[in-house]
Amino acid sequence: MKTLIVVDSTHKGNTDKIALAMAEAASAEVVSPEEAEQADLSGFDVIGLGSGIYFGKHSKKIMDFAEKHIDRRVASFVFSTSGTAGFDKNNRALAELLRCKSRAVLGTFGCLGHDEFAIFKLVGGLNKGRPDGTDMENARRFMMSVAERYEKLGSAE
Ligand SMILES: Cc1cc2nc3c(=O)[nH]c(=O)nc-3n(C[C@H](O)[C@H](O)[C@H](O)COP(=O)(O)O)c2cc1C
Repeated sequence: MKTLIVVDSTHKGNTDKIALAMAEAASAEVVSPEEAEQADLSGFDVIGLGSGIYFGKHSKKIMDFAEKHIDRRVASFVFSTSGTAGFDKNNRALAELLRCKSRAVLGTFGCLGHDEFAIFKLVGGLNKGRPDGTDMENARRFMMSVAERYEKLGSAE
């Protein structure tokens, strides 16, 4: 399973940490949307897309990348970090887009991230210290489940 992870993590680098834990578990490459725009995507079996959640959604760069560059040749997965829980809701718009565009969505992952947006900064932010070791471990486990689903996908076709 040759895997590319495209991550946009502009607020605190929270989603980058999750992307790196995922990459370690799947021997994947991690790139920014800008780097992915320049990359040859044809060799990848799976592309994971993630960012912080900004105003209820993934970043525009990640949504635009999914819209422009993902097609039926590649399976996908979705991840995010956010200031508040409700991870399924946060991941929904991107997962729905990828359900239409990619071969299959192999899973979605979300966890809390340190949030110093606006007024939260005054009180030291929400979720200080997140993502933490448990979040990273959950991200690694999630990648194992992505790999299992990818294997099943092959045998179902
Ligand atoms: C401009 C902005 C908007 C945000 N909007 C939301 C939001 O709608 N819902 C939420 O749960 N968290 C929101 N957050 C918190 C971030 O999703 C959270 O801090 C996340 O971990 C940031 O990821 P990053 O460090 O990878 O950019 C927002 C943060 C910023 C800076």
